[in-house]
Amino acid sequence: MAEKHLAKTRKFKSEDINQILEIEEQAFPKTVFSKATILTYADRLPDTFIVVQSGKAIVGYIIFDLTGHIHSTVVKKSYRRKGFGKMLFMYALRCAEKGLWLEVRSENSEAIEFYKRLGMKIIGKIPNYYEDDHALIMRLEKSIPP
Ligand SMILES: CC(C)(COP(=O)(O)OP(=O)(O)OC[C@H]1O[C@@H](n2cnc3c(N)ncnc32)[C@H](O)[C@@H]1OP(=O)(O)O)[C@@H](O)C(=O)NCCC(=O)NCCS
Repeated sequence: MAEKHLAKTRKFKSEDINQILEIEEQAFPKTVFSKATILTYADRLPDTFIVVQSGKAIVGYIIFDLTGHIHSTVVKKSYRRKGFGKMLFMYALRCAEKGLWLEVRSENSEAIEFYKRLGMKIIGKIPNYYEDDHALIMRLEKSIPP
């Protein structure tokens, strides 16, 4: 079992791809990212595609960019509610100067609760953003010292 204090965050490496695909397929069976999509993200955002690793296992990942847009974040099912999602989110928050924002399915109440817990607020809604759901836009602004 992965222990949070033994886990480390690091940049995605190409050899992580199979574990990332497995995590994706488990989390989003209907809308899974293809291998090509993941590798395109790795190519475009090499410094901000971050995984959390414990032993040899990839436990989760986050893909964001320096505008603070979170493109995706997932923690492997058996490792949820242990603080790994927060660890990835805080990594992104440290990097993004102005804070973080994202779109989330309006029906994804677990993720919405997670983001609220980390201080994000719902600031908008995009009707029919997904084929079968609306998107909520959530944002956490970083306060910039005067
Ligand atoms: C959202 C997700 C990344 C959270 O990862 P996680 O590692 O389980 O989150 P953490 O353990 O760091 O949770 C931190 C806090 O967020 C809140 N939280 C996390 N999951 C929650 C849930 N399912 N319901 C309510 N609150 C939740 C809790 O307050 C939690 O603290 P606690 O466990 O001490 O109560 C994970 O549930 C996931 O991968 N979901 C499927 C993929 C997904 O929906 N991604 C987001 C797409 S926009």
